[in-house]
Amino acid sequence: MKKLYGVIGCPIQQTMSPLIHNDAFLHLGMDALYHAFHVEPGDLEDAVKGMKALGVSGFNVTIPHKESIIPLLDEVDEHARRIGAVNTVVCENGKLKGYNTDGPGYVEALKQVTQTSDKRMLIIGAGGAARAIIYSLLQEPGVTADILNRTPEKAISLIEEFSFHDRCRAVTMEEAVRSLPTYDVIVQTTSVGMHPHVEETPIPLSTLKKNAVVSDIIYNPLETRLLNEARLKGAVVQNGVQMFAYQAALAFQQWTGNVPDVERMETLVTERLGGTSC
Ligand code: ATR
Repeated sequence: MKKLYGVIGCPIQQTMSPLIHNDAFLHLGMDALYHAFHVEPGDLEDAVKGMKALGVSGFNVTIPHKESIIPLLDEVDEHARRIGAVNTVVCENGKLKGYNTDGPGYVEALKQVTQTSDKRMLIIGAGGAARAIIYSLLQEPGVTADILNRTPEKAISLIEEFSFHDRCRAVTMEEAVRSLPTYDVIVQTTSVGMHPHVEETPIPLSTLKKNAVVSDIIYNPLETRLLNEARLKGAVVQNGVQMFAYQAALAFQQWTGNVPDVERMETLVTERLGGTSC
């Protein structure tokens, strides 16, 4: 029987998840379908029960349900629980288990452009996306990170919550700018520079280290002002397409045990966003 997968979110119209998952099913010759479901916050509990009752095999969870779904699941993976967010649910024998593939997906994506171990990083942001990314990046050996956030208290409490004091500190804009020549990797996790505010940039890059890596999780536009400035300074740059593709690929593996073609996913997303892929 055809297996059913999906994503729940609100809004959900713009999601590119059906595009890449359905293509992967087709490409791998699997009899399965992935569908986007618009679920209002007040309907989440019913939607989760519905997924169970209908025998859906697995689904993704996106804004605004990643945190609120946790108490509705039968089981939650330890990492997802510590991150406090679930973006992937596996349904097996009538039980729902939640995982987080955003953080590990980001790390996998970053590894496509640089080694992660022993790197000194600047992470911009301390919101929901940053939580998963910071938690996962700090599992990598030897990583140390400064965290810059508009609201510094959020960076401080995140470091405390994860007990990352020995390898992380919260920095002000002034401190981050002063330390800029020392960072190997800059990770941008906020919405600053996202369409339609494409003129915005979270930090000036005038003293960027030579050969630094600058990674922005935004993919609309494909090249943010931050990435454009970094590229012109000779940095290795990465947009959010790879993170999106790797979080999807990891979810796909959790559900099916099959490894999808991630590059194919990246190409599809980039093309959908109007860019050209090599
Ligand atoms: P997400 O789940 O996408 O990370 P979020 O949890 O609302 O969304 O977090 C948004 C992040 O972007 C936060 O780090 C936020 O900074 P604050 O903690 O100070 O709110 C950051 N952010 C959003 N708009 C910003 C802006 N105009 N300037 C600087 N930082 C901004």
